[in-house]
Amino acid sequence: MKFFVDTADTAEIQELEATGLLDGVTTNPSLIAKSGRQFKDVIKEICGITKGDVSAEVAATDFETMIKEAHELRNIADNVVIKLPLTFDGLKACKQLTEDGTKTNVTLCFSANQALLAAKAGATYISPFIGRLDDIHMDGLELIREIRVIYDNFGFETEILAASIRTPNHVRECAIIGADVATVPPATLKALVKHPLTDKGLDAFLTDWAKTGQSIL
Ligand code: G3P
Repeated sequence: MKFFVDTADTAEIQELEATGLLDGVTTNPSLIAKSGRQFKDVIKEICGITKGDVSAEVAATDFETMIKEAHELRNIADNVVIKLPLTFDGLKACKQLTEDGTKTNVTLCFSANQALLAAKAGATYISPFIGRLDDIHMDGLELIREIRVIYDNFGFETEILAASIRTPNHVRECAIIGADVATVPPATLKALVKHPLTDKGLDAFLTDWAKTGQSIL
């Protein structure tokens, strides 16, 4: 499973990129607003940090303007992926951009039928939102399971990009189900490495090593 980081914070992206574990970045208008920076400047900077796919979302809701915005964003860097809302205009734009050879990420997916439509429109990625379904007492992970079955039934190549991930457990379940990508907030991504027994075991090893009085170097 690929790991994307879900943030517009370039310092966080830089830090995670240095681990070699990062496969890409996703942003959305809320994350851009939180950064307090100019959208295109942020996308350009992120594309300079990572060679992986970087999702940049259109702000328009009509087909013609979405296409114009997509062209503008696509010109920022080769690894920009155009993020489009799951509406009929968004799907129409997805179809056209896919035919032009532009990568797309269809976002705000909350049902298996929406994911089916995005795959038929040729989306590179579909973004089902796990956490926001959980928030309204629905089962976000069940949606990932359903999409996996449907895409495998028909051989769709659209990658399942599990989004709105809130916990390490979401990441684990997505990997078990077979999501292609998980886009994870920086804090949750960093939390994946933590285990109390790892810390405890390392402390014990270091204590015993000190007792030997040896040095490797
Ligand atoms: O970028 C889309 C998605 O990951 C947003 O997550 O936590 O705002 O529901 P969240």
